[in-house]
Amino acid sequence: MSQTEYIVIRAEEDGVNVIGLTRGTDTKFHHSEKLDRGEVMVAQFTEHTSAIKIRGKAEIQTAHGVMQSEAKK
Ligand code: TRP
Repeated sequence: MSQTEYIVIRAEEDGVNVIGLTRGTDTKFHHSEKLDRGEVMVAQFTEHTSAIKIRGKAEIQTAHGVMQSEAKK
């Protein structure tokens, strides 16, 4: 598991939330990390984390490409 790829999230506004969701039968939030503008989080999918939700305006880099999440209007 430690060799899985990383994803990079760069916040483009204050208060971007990076939320980790659990792997397994039930899918729950297990961790929320708040990033301010310019802050970067480098994260992996792990034994405990099967999905990552990003709320707020950010640039997200993954092996699938680079994408932008939008700010809530
Ligand atoms: N303890 C968590 C885990 O190993 C830490 C973590 C990894 C995490 N990737 C994440 C938390 C992505 C939030 C988002 O799974």
